[in-house]
Amino acid sequence: MKTKVEGLIQRCDRPDFTPGKRHFPELLELAVSDDESIRKKAISAWLRAGAPGLDWLVRELEGQEFSSTFRARIARVIQRFAADDVGSSRVQMQELLKDPDEQVQRVVIQAMGQWKDAEEVQLEALLLDHWNSVKELATERGIIKTLGRVGGEKSLALIQDYVDRLEEIDEATQKTIDKTRLEIERRLSRSEANGLDLNVPVQARLRIFSKPGLEFLVQDELKEHSLVSNTPGELECDWDAPLIQLYNSRVMLGFAIVTSSESTRGGLGQALARLLQKKSVLGVLKRVTRGPIRYRIEWMDHGKLRAETLEAAKLLSEGSPELVNDPSERDWDIEVYQVKKSIYALLKPRVEDTRFLWRQEDVPAASHPTVAAALVRLAQVFDRAKVWDPFMGSAQELIEAGKVANEVILVGSDTDAAAIEAARKNLDAAGVKAKIHQTMAQRLDITGQDFIITNPPLGWRIHGPHSVGKSLESLFKEVIPNLSRALKPGGKLVWMSPNPKLTDPIAKAQGLELRMKKPVDLGGMNATLQVWVKR
Ligand SMILES: C[S@@+](CC[C@H](N)C(=O)[O-])C[C@H]1O[C@@H](n2cnc3c(N)ncnc32)[C@H](O)[C@@H]1O
Repeated sequence: MKTKVEGLIQRCDRPDFTPGKRHFPELLELAVSDDESIRKKAISAWLRAGAPGLDWLVRELEGQEFSSTFRARIARVIQRFAADDVGSSRVQMQELLKDPDEQVQRVVIQAMGQWKDAEEVQLEALLLDHWNSVKELATERGIIKTLGRVGGEKSLALIQDYVDRLEEIDEATQKTIDKTRLEIERRLSRSEANGLDLNVPVQARLRIFSKPGLEFLVQDELKEHSLVSNTPGELECDWDAPLIQLYNSRVMLGFAIVTSSESTRGGLGQALARLLQKKSVLGVLKRVTRGPIRYRIEWMDHGKLRAETLEAAKLLSEGSPELVNDPSERDWDIEVYQVKKSIYALLKPRVEDTRFLWRQEDVPAASHPTVAAALVRLAQVFDRAKVWDPFMGSAQELIEAGKVANEVILVGSDTDAAAIEAARKNLDAAGVKAKIHQTMAQRLDITGQDFIITNPPLGWRIHGPHSVGKSLESLFKEVIPNLSRALKPGGKLVWMSPNPKLTDPIAKAQGLELRMKKPVDLGGMNATLQVWVKR
């Protein structure tokens, strides 16, 4: 048979059980039990009782003499109420801070740091006040830790004074002090104006990324900067211009500043601190950043390396206080790479990429916008050209074409109703006009086109209501003749062929001439970028 207590434990698990006055005495036993899982259950049930539960607890506490271990456990119960600011819980916590036993005080101090609104409720003053009455090192450490959440200039001053007076600092205390200082400095720096300014000219080594195979188009878009590519998907150059000009490339994926390298002597933390304070590195960070330089460190060849990150952040804040380790509000991602006995970093500014903001809706097989840009760039669309995308999807190619030339006459078709809707939304958002048909590419009756620009289905089995189960071969046998018919003589088909072996003979047989081909890695899927011209 179940005992009364077991019954109560079980009820605690049920979200619809709200304990009442008659349960409180037994619930208290459970809430301070030695078994942590029982304690947790009891406390969450008790929280459901709200202010009356708390009041009972407080009265209980006042009337009796409890051991300090017991009082510390009760403090944990009250803390749960205090986290949500229930009734008089916070006043009670302040009372408990006066407990003669510092073990109880420590529970309170730690708990206060976890209040969601800890920063706003003037805990700093309370804790600084309390500091003078503290005798035990563990309690001092507890206060310093919580000051990391709630402190400001005054806390920094107190910690400095503390450090100056101590003859020796043990490792745990030193760690707590370092962490707290960084947290406080980070918070203080947030009130200063900040942000990135990509309009200032910058001299730096840059690495620019693209889909592997599309480097040649990025080189063409940024030709005045003489980009070279030694690795698929990566280009490099010595840049001497505002970074904003990188966005003149619509095919690039992103970019980073490449630092020089630094030996790992003294460990990775020290090496990174030296690297980031080099004139060439700090100089460029300062130039582009207004206010504090907030960063996050990522060790690309290792795991988290918390100790090294903390060490680097500490050395940096001492040596160059404008550098603030602030992962959640960062403007810079600092990716650190190790090559044998040295490291270098890629500095990636976190800026909004405004090139493709019109993307309101996607389709599952949507082209990456830089791929759409690549197709359109390769086509060299001219003003007033007629352009058809037979596999329009979310209309990225059409929009891109509408952006690069004036008064283009755009037609899009797709079989999928969701694609049609997505295309309409995106075209509206982009302010580009196009005539849209919900029909099969092989069926649309259209002629006189200057360009067909498209990213067709690339999978072996085609999806979509009218193509399910068809092989690519049978689809393209039907579609390519219609594409060829639609082009005027000299008109261009610019597309991604999923399989040139299969599509090239069909295209040739339809009077198309291959002018260019280039394999592209579309993220695990290979396709070939091609330009065909109608004879
Ligand atoms: C790779 S997606 C196109 C992606 C598009 N460029 C974009 O950026 O969203 C291929 C599209 O072809 C459509 N489709 C498949 N078979 C078709 C057919 N026979 N005729 C017309 N559209 C078809 C699919 O519905 C899909 O939207």
